Amino acid sequence: MDESPHSIVEEFKVAYSHRVYFTEGVFAPGNSLLASTIKACTSAETPRVFLVADAAFMAANPEISSQITQFFEHCRGEIQYLGSLELPGGEQLKNHSEYLEQLYRVIEQNKLCRHSYIIALGGGALLDLVGYAASTAHRGIRHLRLPTTSLSQGDGGCGVKNGINYFGKKNFLGTFTPPAAVINDVNFLKSLPEARLIDGFIEAIKVALIKDCSFFDYIEENAVAIIQRDFGIIRKVLEASARHHVLHIARNGDPFELTSSRPLDFGHWSAHKLEVLTDYALSHGESVAIGIALDSIYSHRKGYLSEAKLQRILKLIQSFGFRIYDERLSELTEDGQYVILRGLEEFREHMGGKLTIPLLRDIGDQFEVNDMDGELLIESIESLRSWETTLQT
Ligand SMILES: NC(=O)c1ccc[n+]([C@@H]2O[C@H](COP(=O)([O-])OP(=O)(O)OC[C@H]3O[C@@H](n4cnc5c(N)ncnc54)[C@H](O)[C@@H]3O)[C@@H](O)[C@H]2O)c1
Ligand SMILES: [Zn+2]
Repeated sequence: MDESPHSIVEEFKVAYSHRVYFTEGVFAPGNSLLASTIKACTSAETPRVFLVADAAFMAANPEISSQITQFFEHCRGEIQYLGSLELPGGEQLKNHSEYLEQLYRVIEQNKLCRHSYIIALGGGALLDLVGYAASTAHRGIRHLRLPTTSLSQGDGGCGVKNGINYFGKKNFLGTFTPPAAVINDVNFLKSLPEARLIDGFIEAIKVALIKDCSFFDYIEENAVAIIQRDFGIIRKVLEASARHHVLHIARNGDPFELTSSRPLDFGHWSAHKLEVLTDYALSHGESVAIGIALDSIYSHRKGYLSEAKLQRILKLIQSFGFRIYDERLSELTEDGQYVILRGLEEFREHMGGKLTIPLLRDIGDQFEVNDMDGELLIESIESLRSWETTLQT
């Protein structure tokens, strides 16, 4: 018997198409995008489809339920529609594992297989939960996303990640699984309360800050129109934001985040911690606004970003009505440490590898550091507190 070590090493690649569409009236008669997408992404003769919807979205859009029924009635023969389930939206969905179990039960009872689809219609939390259930049941059922919030249309919904919270940690369980497609219907955003409508624009500002100075100018010029609910402009900005995200995922060479570089997570190390510290009273968007303000002021105090650029950033964030400071930033542990700073290690642990934090050199120009100066962060936090009052006056 030959005792020497043997190895079999073969490289294989899997090609993905990441499809993100923008439309209006996705369930309206005559709009064939959803049906053709379902047909295009599977070899099943008559694909089985189950829909999971965000109850708050459905309640705010009472006409949608019958539109969905009519839509699938019209597709009968081509698509086998099995029915729908409504779940309450928001972060609670990701915090309580009974919702995940409910989805697994639905998948089992409806005999959904790898050639079937689950359509997720709702905010980012619902998309994350449904994406996780779909990607783990039977090792992967196709899922299709119909995001209903600005944040999920311009950012999270267009990505390839899903997840739920566990052990009190954001997205502790999750997978990288590209959806079969994402279909963004701008009409869905019309029922969003003001604060939730604005949430998505902080991720647009984020992607502009790290990648595209002229996009930042555009958001600045159109901030008033966005706040006044000009849906033409809203669609343009979200589409540009989604495009930046998709191009980054598809072309930056690391769609499943195997390295430590994570520019799209600019401002997110403290945002994730703030969400948990406030027990999700601060939304993801509101937390990211503060996280971006913090890492921008830190970039300035470290000597990378000019004062004028910092002022522009903080003013734009505030012009959308976001706060740039929250009292939890200054919360101390029993031994006098800033609790928020634990977010750095938790971020590193979640991402794996070395701590890698994106900072700004300029608007549209990010770079990464592997170390954050705790004292300077504390100074930055405390000066954000005064910036907030100064800029408000
Ligand atoms: N997977 C990713 O890559 C990724 C990226 C960014 C954010 N996220 C996650 O997304 C979540 C935040 O998502 P979100 O900002 O979309 O908020 P959300 O899903 O928490 O929804 C906010 C609230 O709005 C309601 N709602 C949704 N659509 C509505 C509509 N059109 N009209 C009226 N009410 C509506 C929901 O029921 C909920 O109460 C967080 O859990 C965050 O971690 C994931
Ligand atoms: Zn985010």
